[in-house]
Amino acid sequence: MPAWTPGEAELAHLELLLSGGYAPLRGFLGSRDSESVLASRRLADGTPWPVPITLAVPAELADELAARPEPGRRLVLQDPEGTPLALVEVTEIWPSGTQTRVAGPVTALRPPAHGTFRGLRRRPDEVRAAKSGDGLMIAVPVRGPLHRKQTGQLRQIAEKLGATVLVLPLLTGAHPDGLVRALLAIRKEMPGEALIVPVPLAEHPDLERDLLLRAHIAAAYGATHLFLPAPGRGPAGEEAAQQLAERLADETPVEIVVPEPWAYDDNVEVWRPRARIEPDHVRAETLDVDAMLDGGEPIPEWYTFPAVARELRAARPPRGERGLTVFFTGLSGSGKSTIARGLADALIERGGRTVTLLDGDVVRRLLSAGLTFSKADRDLNIRRIGYVAAEVTRHGGLAICAPIAPYAATRREVREMVGAVGDFVLVYVATPLAECERRDRKGLYAKARAGLIPEFTGVSDPYEPPDDADLVLDTSGIEPADAVAAVLDLLVEGGWVAAG
Ligand code: ADX
Repeated sequence: MPAWTPGEAELAHLELLLSGGYAPLRGFLGSRDSESVLASRRLADGTPWPVPITLAVPAELADELAARPEPGRRLVLQDPEGTPLALVEVTEIWPSGTQTRVAGPVTALRPPAHGTFRGLRRRPDEVRAAKSGDGLMIAVPVRGPLHRKQTGQLRQIAEKLGATVLVLPLLTGAHPDGLVRALLAIRKEMPGEALIVPVPLAEHPDLERDLLLRAHIAAAYGATHLFLPAPGRGPAGEEAAQQLAERLADETPVEIVVPEPWAYDDNVEVWRPRARIEPDHVRAETLDVDAMLDGGEPIPEWYTFPAVARELRAARPPRGERGLTVFFTGLSGSGKSTIARGLADALIERGGRTVTLLDGDVVRRLLSAGLTFSKADRDLNIRRIGYVAAEVTRHGGLAICAPIAPYAATRREVREMVGAVGDFVLVYVATPLAECERRDRKGLYAKARAGLIPEFTGVSDPYEPPDDADLVLDTSGIEPADAVAAVLDLLVEGGWVAAG
């Protein structure tokens, strides 16, 4: 039977389809339902549903499925380790843009085992069964931690409604574990016996569809209400949340509750409804949490709980301790390796940072030994370098890469991979081809011109200059030491390296 390992987002969809979190959906949508959802936020039969839940497969796999007799076309879906998770009873194979999609109901082969906090991931039917009778339950689907203000607002609303609280940390992208830990740490601050159930759900770019999908999941878990704190701060955010709730009121399966505005009362030093605070005592909430974390400033206790501040800091360490990849790109002979080595040496001399140098030629002798200079092999080479750099970055190290990396799309992939776990700086060593060729230290340009080396970058193979470089250096007119100094300056200015 054909098998396929979907990406993170589709595995997340699968988990919710199998658990009943996407009820009434029981499988991946076909073309009619998807078009209908996109056009009207309803399935083809009129059932409200906000987001197309679809499964893309490689074209070869779709062909293999299509070659089989119509009833009995089945596809096995696997987790990233290759363990079979579910069966798709394929009812449609349909093209969508450049992709081919497969639709049909799914059945579980075994419970999913991948992902963190498995022990907390209760199924919707378990949560509904545990709920007392037909009591009210307010769902709190969150992608960020709850601070003192939102916790107070939540307590006020839950008490007023007499509702139990179900917190649904939405797991995707970077640092989902920290989010769950930050919520577990403040469980006692939440009203009653708040339940915390992580749910794998990527953010949908459309605000309304995203909120509606969260509402459908909340309803599947037995919630009657959904807590929607204002995005951002101040009256504009409060107004926007209120309007959003009103616009979606007819379409949502649970009632969206926007809390009344709260503020910190400077006089009695507590958070409470703003309407009850004398205007003189309302503390301005102007702190820029990200900037404070970047600079290593402590997040004040009046704003959030110490345990939450700890998780915020772990997820976004101060720049000086955060992992960083410095990625050089440019033609062969442009000076990448020289600058990269000089930078590594300078950083090691200063101390305070662990440095890993992934030079183009060195990588090709070991990590990428055996690869050619075809487009596919160059891309694979860059992805391998990106993978190692991302691991170094994840652990707080400083990776310096210096391959040619001629393709913009592949460089962007690396930027994204690294960006999910730390910071990324792209340095374009823009020494002109003529100068690289004049230097020709390895004699490769002469050979390439003579036709002895095929597919040589700049001569008989493309180089796509970056338009997203953080620094551009042309080494024709400057000394290597000055080029190194320019990169170091950038790192010091950005706060990644201490001024020395
Ligand atoms: S990349 O395109 O995959 O990023 P990489 O940086 O690893 O290239 O390797 C480039 C080095 O390999 C060059 O500095 C040069 O010494 C050598 N080389 C050998 N053949 C080629 C070629 N066809 N194109 C470019 N560089 C080549």
